[in-house]
Amino acid sequence: MHEFVAKALRDRPWQAVTLERPQPLEALPTPALVLDRAAFEANLTSMRDHLAAHGKVARPHAKTHKCPVISHTQMQAGAVGICVAKVGEAVAHAAAGVQQILVTSPVTHPGKIAVLASVARQIDGLDLVVDSIVGAELLRKHWPGDARLGVLLDVDVQMGRTGNHSAESLRRIRETLADEARFHCKGFQHYAGNLMHIASYTERRERSLAAWEQALALTADVFDATPEVITGCGTGTFDIDVAIEQITDLQVGSYIFMDREYVEIEGRDSPTLNAFTPSLSVACTAISAPTEFGVTVDGGFKAFASDSVAPLPLDLPDAKFRFAGDEHGVVLRGKGDQEPLLGRVLSFMVPHCDPTVNLHDVYWVRDADGLVREIWPITARGAVW
Ligand SMILES: Cc1ncc(COP(=O)(O)O)c(C=O)c1O
Repeated sequence: MHEFVAKALRDRPWQAVTLERPQPLEALPTPALVLDRAAFEANLTSMRDHLAAHGKVARPHAKTHKCPVISHTQMQAGAVGICVAKVGEAVAHAAAGVQQILVTSPVTHPGKIAVLASVARQIDGLDLVVDSIVGAELLRKHWPGDARLGVLLDVDVQMGRTGNHSAESLRRIRETLADEARFHCKGFQHYAGNLMHIASYTERRERSLAAWEQALALTADVFDATPEVITGCGTGTFDIDVAIEQITDLQVGSYIFMDREYVEIEGRDSPTLNAFTPSLSVACTAISAPTEFGVTVDGGFKAFASDSVAPLPLDLPDAKFRFAGDEHGVVLRGKGDQEPLLGRVLSFMVPHCDPTVNLHDVYWVRDADGLVREIWPITARGAVW
C-alpha cells in the first residue's frame, strides 16, 4: 500500500521547465501560484547571511514549498540539509536527488518505516525524529539491518503536538536505539510552533527563549556527550533563537515566501515582520461583477488556504477579499474605486503559504520585468502522508 503511493510520487516530474516564450501574468491559467524570483532569492540570501553572522546554518523546512527545485537551491545557498514533515515529502525529494533529509514528525507505522528505509538506501543522510518508546521499539523491529538512520529525539515543553516532555522517557528512547549500528542518535529537535505568530516581538522573544531554556534543561542528562545536532525554530523566531548557543541549525520554512499571517506580526525593530519580502502570490481573473460593490475572481477555497486570515489584494489599495465558495472569491472594492476590473488579472498575497502551496501543481516563476519564464513543479503536492 505505502510502496504503491511512494512509487507514484517517485515518477512525478520535478525539474524546472523553461517556457518557450516569456509570458505575462495575463497569459497564465488562473488561479496561478506565482513566485517572484528576485524576492525569493533575496530572502534566501538574507537568511543565509543572518544565520552565518550568528554562527548558525539553515536546515530549511520543505513542508513550506514541497518543491525539489527549491530544496536544491536552498542546499546550494549553504543549508546543512532539508526538513520534511511527511514520509511522502521525503520520497519525492529523495527521488529528485536531494540529500540530508530530516523527517520532523514521528513515524509509527511499519509501512512508512519500510518506505523510509528505501529512502535511506537511496540518499546520503536520512534522519527521523522519535518521541516515544513505542516509536523506538517499532524502529528496532522493522528497520532493516542494511540501512542507516540518524535519530533525533523530539522534545516538547509546551506545544502539545509531537515531542516528549519527560527526561526519563527521552533517555529510555535513546537507550532503546543506542546499542544498534543501524541507528545513530545525533541529538534533539525542539519546535515551538505555538509561538511563531505571537504578534508582540517582546513576548515572542521571551517565550521562545524560555522554551529553549526548558528544552535544554530537560535534555541535560539525556545524552552522554554533547549532541551533534540541536535543531528547531521557525521564521517567527529566526532572529531570536540564534541567541541560544547550543542550537546548531534553524528549521526555517516560510521565510522564502512569507504570507499574510507572517507579515502582520511585529518585527524586531518594525511594526511588521519586514526582514523578508513577500514573494508568493496567487493571480486570479475577475470573471463576474454581479453587484456594484465588488468583482468576483476565479479563486476560492481551492486556490487559497482558508485556515487563517483572508488573501490580501495586492493591486487595489483598501480592497478586501471575501471567500465566496470553493472556486470563487469576491473582491470588495475600496472606497471610491471605479477602475473597471472585469477580465483583469489581480494578484493576492497568500494567507498561509504551506497549505496554499499544497493546492497547486506548479510555481510560475516571474522575473523582474514581470514576465514568467520558468515553471517549477510542486512535486510533493498532495503528499500528505
Ligand atoms: C517542525 C517544524 N519545523 C519548522 C517549521 C517551519 O516554520 P516556519 O514556516 O514558521 O518557518 C515548521 C512549520 O510548521 C515545523 O512544523
